[in-house]
Amino acid sequence: MENKSIYVIYDRNVESFALKLAEGRPALAITADEAHKTMDTVLDICRWLLAQGANRDAIVWAVGGGVTTDLVGFAASIYKRGVRYANYPTTLLSQVDAGVGGKTGVNLDSYKNMIGVTKFPIYTRILPEVLATLPARELRSGAAEMLKTFIIDNKGDRYEKAVKVLSEPKIDFAALAPLIEAAAAVKRKIVEQDPYEENLRRCLNLGHTYAHAIEWYQHTHPTADPMTHGEAVAVGMVQAALLSERLGLCKAGLAEKLRKDLQACGLPTELPCPEAELEAALWKDKKAEKGIIHFVLIKKIGKVIIKDLDDLHQPAA
Ligand SMILES: NC(=O)c1ccc[n+]([C@@H]2O[C@H](COP(=O)([O-])OP(=O)(O)OC[C@H]3O[C@@H](n4cnc5c(N)ncnc54)[C@H](O)[C@@H]3O)[C@@H](O)[C@H]2O)c1
Ligand SMILES: [Zn+2]
Repeated sequence: MENKSIYVIYDRNVESFALKLAEGRPALAITADEAHKTMDTVLDICRWLLAQGANRDAIVWAVGGGVTTDLVGFAASIYKRGVRYANYPTTLLSQVDAGVGGKTGVNLDSYKNMIGVTKFPIYTRILPEVLATLPARELRSGAAEMLKTFIIDNKGDRYEKAVKVLSEPKIDFAALAPLIEAAAAVKRKIVEQDPYEENLRRCLNLGHTYAHAIEWYQHTHPTADPMTHGEAVAVGMVQAALLSERLGLCKAGLAEKLRKDLQACGLPTELPCPEAELEAALWKDKKAEKGIIHFVLIKKIGKVIIKDLDDLHQPAA
């Protein structure tokens, strides 16, 4: 690949990995946290690209977690009306989720991901060895999204394999690597069939209706140790399983099995507050339209179904 048209933008927390990867190409460090996931940072990236003389033929590499790939993907999509970008995701979450799928964007004031576009990276390269430096809690957060993907599509019994690898006290990255590739491939396949989230892609929201409500609750009731996104997704998947059981969509015991598996992987499974406190936030979720939630429910591990619900407590049909 032509060296001079590549520009590397990286999370300063993965600097040594990023600079090794960059091999002397122009590189810009950014502070990649939610507070900096803003238009200001996007404009800083665009100014830097301009100062570097980046043209329409530029390829921008994003090296970092989901904050970085979202930010850089968005900057690349508007710089000179759009240049190509490639992702080198460095968190498990971004390897199986954020770095795959083409959603880019930034926060607006306290609203997450309010501005953005769908623009696909020209490729996403997964280098599992970078996960060795990732804090354990971040790793588990990504694990929840990986397990979510295999609850949606469990070809090759990958859900069971992932639970086994992720529940070891010391994660074997060589054993995890093919599972990361498989999870990214499942997401890619779903997104290719429904890039703009009109139907099929919605199944990727498994666990997210409750997760977003938990995140909203935590935002409005700050605590010292809020759940991470992946942790909230784990709790949300157990809630989805409980609701699936209540509606008679799956065999009894599914929620208990999920609870056990997720706990083995170091993830929480209980709501951080009484369920009634989440009710308002559930209906506020941006996935709810006209009083209806497109709720992703589970028929069995490997098969989900989307039901439009206007009442979470209706009895089994
Ligand atoms: N575009 C999408 O489809 C999509 C999907 C899911 C999430 N997201 C977005 O992704 C973001 C969350 O992504 P994330 O969980 O990857 O978080 P992140 O990018 O904030 O990374 C988490 C933390 O780990 C650090 N880090 C990253 N890689 C590291 C490594 N290898 N070693 C040590 N530290 C490392 C980061 O500096 C940060 O402090 C959110 O902003 C969310 O909105 C986007
Ligand atoms: Zn998620």
